[in-house]
Amino acid sequence: MLRAVDVIRKKRDGEALSAAEIAWMVGGIARGDVADYQWSALLMAIVLKGMDRSETVALTDAMMRSGIVVDLSSIPGAKVDKHSTGGVGDKTSLILAPIAAAAGVLVPMVSGRGLGHTGGTLDKLESIPGFQVDVTLDRYKEILRETGLVLIGQTAEIAPADKFLYALRDATSTVEAIPLLASSIMSKKLAEGIDGLVLDVKTGNGAFLPDLERSWKLAETMCDVGRRMGKKMVALITRMDQPLGLAVGNAVEVAECLACLKGAGPDDLTSLSLDLAAEMILMASRAASIEEARGICERTIADGSALERFRVLIAAQGGDARVVDDPGLLPQPRRTIELKADRAGWVARLDARPIGVATMLLGAGRERVDSKIDPAVGVVFRRKVGDRVESGETLCTLLVNDEARLDQALSMIEDAYHWSDEPTTPPDLIVERLVAEIA
Ligand code: URA
Repeated sequence: MLRAVDVIRKKRDGEALSAAEIAWMVGGIARGDVADYQWSALLMAIVLKGMDRSETVALTDAMMRSGIVVDLSSIPGAKVDKHSTGGVGDKTSLILAPIAAAAGVLVPMVSGRGLGHTGGTLDKLESIPGFQVDVTLDRYKEILRETGLVLIGQTAEIAPADKFLYALRDATSTVEAIPLLASSIMSKKLAEGIDGLVLDVKTGNGAFLPDLERSWKLAETMCDVGRRMGKKMVALITRMDQPLGLAVGNAVEVAECLACLKGAGPDDLTSLSLDLAAEMILMASRAASIEEARGICERTIADGSALERFRVLIAAQGGDARVVDDPGLLPQPRRTIELKADRAGWVARLDARPIGVATMLLGAGRERVDSKIDPAVGVVFRRKVGDRVESGETLCTLLVNDEARLDQALSMIEDAYHWSDEPTTPPDLIVERLVAEIA
């Protein structure tokens, strides 16, 4: 007969837990016979003593099985999703999902909301008038079958143990342990019914884990966990030192995604979205090489098929698809304010994290899980790393409704710019590519 105190003691003393012990502790959440304070103690013991790979797999598996594991086998074709560890201006999902779907990949995506300085796919999608992200799992399957892609929020049936544990981790300073991060992310993704997953693990000052070594470790852990659970896995480790693209906010990010799908988006955002979509296409065996997959991505933009896919998705999820041709129908701010340069030079750095916080202060993000966001506000950058700027030129435009914290936001953005008197070049976005072959 297992007891929570014994399991906690074992981990406290640095021993590895068995899969049965881990499954019993996770099952105890639904059974009600493991108390919050016992899980809190175990989480802290995991932070301090770590977990080996078998324990991390067992924890992922138990959390995934705490809810429904969606069976998509009745829909023929390879199902591949992408997960990003999050950042500022990171809107690639809205671009790569229609591209991959237009290339014949089935894309079932369960996404999250923004918190703190990072944005969230669901908040961006909800800025499209009428767009529904809360749909039943039956409707999720139907939309996937009809349109080849679907983007919804986490339902109560998907990994409920993770929901419980995430709230405890948030309240007990136990979020940033790699086995806990990996099992939390992977349990939800593997419950979607996918065959493979492309990971975009961010590194740099705007990332959840700023340090490259820890980003690499998280990527490697998630790839290995997915592989051991029979999934194809690829991870790109990408820089999140400055915002991705030019737009940070919600409606303004949707507008930028539409521009990318029309072939007129910023280079960094377009390039990373195409690289990730190409990985999905290769993983789904819709191309024989990454170069061929990249070529397919470019064709879906040139022939309008990716944009068309996005239009069909918006309509299928109850949104006003007219925004595709007229982004002016998206929520607009009452005021715009230009931030001007007070010096000449080259932009050396544009720190993503304070920009994320400043955008949150304008109302585009959440300070707390239950804060309400304003879809119309945000920032559009005119100058980023590598750009030459003359004194008096516009650095960025703020999209504003509530001015209560405008001054604070403006000074944070101004301070996020770092200058050089010599020409600068932005570093390559992709730092490394990791592939995990199924054993
Ligand atoms: N996102 C998740 O889903 N889980 C975490 O633990 C952190 C970020």
